[in-house]
Amino acid sequence: MSLNLPLLEIAYLIASVTFVVGLKMMSNPKTARKGNLIGAFGMSVAILATLTLHDHQVPALIYGLILLAILVGTVAGWVTARKVAMTKMPELVSLFNGMGGACAALISLIEYPHMAHETGSMLSVLAGLVIGSVSFSGSMIAYMKLNGTMNKAIRIPAYNIVNTVVMATVLIFAAVMVFVNGFDTTLHVYILLALALIYGILFVIPIGGADMPVVISLLNSFTGLAAAFGGFLYDNKAMLTGGILVGSAGTLLTLVMCKAMNRPLSNVIFGAFGGSSSSAAGGGTEGGTVKDISVPDLAVLMNYSKKVIIVPGYGLAVAQAQHVIHEIEELLESRGVEVKYAIHPVAGRMPGHMNVLLAESNVDYSKLAEMEEINPEFPSTDVVLVVGANDVVNPAAKTDPSSPIFGMPILEVDNAAHVIVNKRSMNAGYAGIDNPLFYDPKTSMLFGDAKSVLTALAAEIKSL
Ligand code: TAP
Repeated sequence: MSLNLPLLEIAYLIASVTFVVGLKMMSNPKTARKGNLIGAFGMSVAILATLTLHDHQVPALIYGLILLAILVGTVAGWVTARKVAMTKMPELVSLFNGMGGACAALISLIEYPHMAHETGSMLSVLAGLVIGSVSFSGSMIAYMKLNGTMNKAIRIPAYNIVNTVVMATVLIFAAVMVFVNGFDTTLHVYILLALALIYGILFVIPIGGADMPVVISLLNSFTGLAAAFGGFLYDNKAMLTGGILVGSAGTLLTLVMCKAMNRPLSNVIFGAFGGSSSSAAGGGTEGGTVKDISVPDLAVLMNYSKKVIIVPGYGLAVAQAQHVIHEIEELLESRGVEVKYAIHPVAGRMPGHMNVLLAESNVDYSKLAEMEEINPEFPSTDVVLVVGANDVVNPAAKTDPSSPIFGMPILEVDNAAHVIVNKRSMNAGYAGIDNPLFYDPKTSMLFGDAKSVLTALAAEIKSL
């Protein structure tokens, strides 16, 4: 063994530790940025060590190509990440995730002809190929659904059966390649690749556009798993640790999202819930009396309150009203009103959507309260201002067993003295269902686009 190899292993160990520490730091908004940088540093150490400490003789041309690829990838990733709007983040994540899956599949394709075709390594290489390809093609479909290129729900007749048959074909074909002599040629590996790519497309196509964040998180865990198989193949500890961390973090996030929506994963995958924008545009026909409030009246009500809680939702992100809501918060605080933000775990359309949105307008983290923490505070709150949120404050989740969201934990805003709901119409939210909160005698509706209505509200408060 050359002297370089222990150094290489140490570099991989350092990288693995930075991945664990970085991931831990990402669980808090205050340390998330640093955590990301620490993980990126570890990855750079792993890449540099691989390039300089490996024993293999690599021709200069190949080195040149590797450096060129790193340069192109770095510039493309850097520019895209800097330019992307926060609301477009889920599609960027799905694009990046797809690239990860493609990498894992390519590794398997390239290594396949050179490796010993014995059971263990065949299993690793084919698992990496299948999972990586499913993740790649599935992520590309998710990307197209999110950016509107594929915005119609595609309904394949008996798609559950078709999907299951294709999945079974992929698994049986892979098993035959591993266990039956003569079925392990390069042609077979390309057929398996094509089948896995088709399965990835079929897997994501029927899933509703609004469920994409859950699907992306699931595909993300697939990519992690595929990378971990690459780690087995190369006996590379950093790749193995990184892959396992991505795989388990993706799985946990998927489960957390499903739990917060009170829907089993099977319902997300087979339910086509929130599949079209029309499902979100329906609803709102339950009836009952709805009263509204004018901007000047609301300004007075808030100005003379002791405690106000703001509930941000998807509509706040759509309207890009994060800066003006922060301005209102500061105005009220300057008048001695206590202001907090109540954050539901699935408010918006991606994990941490509201936290990131409010961080963009420099809202102090200490003002953001999680659901469990803020729910006991609503009874002592004078005014709750719900901005572009709907499902996450829907009391039907607690009271109506026939509701599709029954059992989903909600922000219990109906316990406050006054509830003000800002939205543009009586249309439903993501779940496509009516919201009894709007008909509650304590509730007043403030109709209009969040940004314009809140801008008027800020001006009105200033004038008091
Ligand atoms: P939603 O229930 O989707 O409600 C958003 C509301 O915003 C709509 O009712 C809409 O009403 C209003 N709105 C839209 N544009 C607006 C604008 N410009 N100004 C003012 N209001 C506007 O949002 P939510 O309460 O944040 O709940 C999130 C939903 O997404 C949950 O059902 C959750 O399960 C689901 N989901 C979340 C995630 C994650 S991880 N966050 C992932 C998948 C699914 P109008 O049209 O009348 O204005």
